[in-house]
Amino acid sequence: MEWNAETVRRKQKELLFPNVGTYYEQALALESGKGMFVKDVEGREYLDFFGGILTVSVGHCHPAVTEAAVAQQRKLVHVSTLYPTLPQLELAEKVVELRPMKERAKVFFTNSGTEANETAVALAKEATGRQELVVLRHNYAGRGTLALSTMGNKHYRPRTQSEVPGIRFAHAPYCYRCDFGLKYPDCGMACAKDLKSLIETTTDGEIAAFMAEPILGVGGFITPPKEYFEVAVPIARNAGGLFIADEVQTAWGRTGGKWWGVQQYGVEPDVLTSAKGMANGQPIGLTMAKAPVADKGTFANISTFGASPISMAAAIATLKVIEEEKLLFNSQMMGKALRDGLESLQERFQGIGDVRGMGLMQAIELVKDRGTKEPDPQWTNRLMEATRKRGLLIGKGGLYGNSLRIAPAMVVSKGQIDDALRLLGEALGEALKQ
Ligand SMILES: Cc1ncc(COP(=O)(O)O)c(C=O)c1O
Repeated sequence: MEWNAETVRRKQKELLFPNVGTYYEQALALESGKGMFVKDVEGREYLDFFGGILTVSVGHCHPAVTEAAVAQQRKLVHVSTLYPTLPQLELAEKVVELRPMKERAKVFFTNSGTEANETAVALAKEATGRQELVVLRHNYAGRGTLALSTMGNKHYRPRTQSEVPGIRFAHAPYCYRCDFGLKYPDCGMACAKDLKSLIETTTDGEIAAFMAEPILGVGGFITPPKEYFEVAVPIARNAGGLFIADEVQTAWGRTGGKWWGVQQYGVEPDVLTSAKGMANGQPIGLTMAKAPVADKGTFANISTFGASPISMAAAIATLKVIEEEKLLFNSQMMGKALRDGLESLQERFQGIGDVRGMGLMQAIELVKDRGTKEPDPQWTNRLMEATRKRGLLIGKGGLYGNSLRIAPAMVVSKGQIDDALRLLGEALGEALKQ
């Protein structure tokens, strides 16, 4: 059979679960990638400003990462976590060196963000001897039973899911749509302070952990105000809870200038999880915990594919590229250029209700009217089509499906930021006219 865009789409319909979501009216079948660009099966090139959901952190098929993965493939592919390997320990040493907590830390490697979070919560329960967990509304922690039970977005919740008990949902620090109808900074951090009442009234007063993303990714890059975690985390700790920072999206320089999202907020996690951009696309999950917490995990921990030597090698190479190419700095500088450009677009287009984010993790939220803030998912879909037509890939998100997520690889240049902003401006013009 000859493969083309049409046959790929037909085969997807025929063979894959129908609830596997794809972007665009006609799913886009991609075949290859290089740096900031991907090509579809018909040879059309796209400037990629979503990086496989913030996973391609140093550009598609970065030669140093490819070389490391290929060399490891020739040497040793798999042993499981039953056997320590040199790449695993080399990566562990590097990650522990970069840790955002002062105290010594230990790590466990898995294959995905879901597994990293499941491990973190199991460990927190074991370490504290407590069961209850506080998460944020609009949270996304993955697709295991526990992670689905912490889901803060109805679209990803299976209707017949039997839930893990003891999970409470705190108000998200979603300033654009404040649950309390307040305005930052006069709000006095009401959403963070409400954690105290949530814990006192809906738990037995003590919790295992407060788990939160520094920026809520799937939630549409909801960016908490800078004081949020300084208020929320001590409340959780006073109730005996650990703070688990879910850095699946926000780690490795994504938020600009710092390795971890949580460092932007001046707080330390007790446990931290990551995945996505860590190995530039190879499957990986990281759970890191302060050593005394990690030492309390007494259940036998094993992962067949965890700490895959290939993923370990790719991650070591990715972190090296981030350091050698000074990508924390680039993420900060290019993030600023992107943010300035998006704010200029907001001045031109009334439909852009909010611009938010940090570093190279920026979103715009599209509304029918700036006064009512009524979401406009239709317009968002038109805009997605219009950007695709112009050869620009961006992401979508948010509970209302009206946030556009813009997160290019951290190797992005100023010229590419300017190109993306120009294409986005043209696409906004077209989508608004319809
Ligand atoms: C913040 C966050 N945590 C966890 C996950 C789950 O990661 P994975 O899809 O690798 O299981 C995601 C995925 O998007 C995420 O954004």
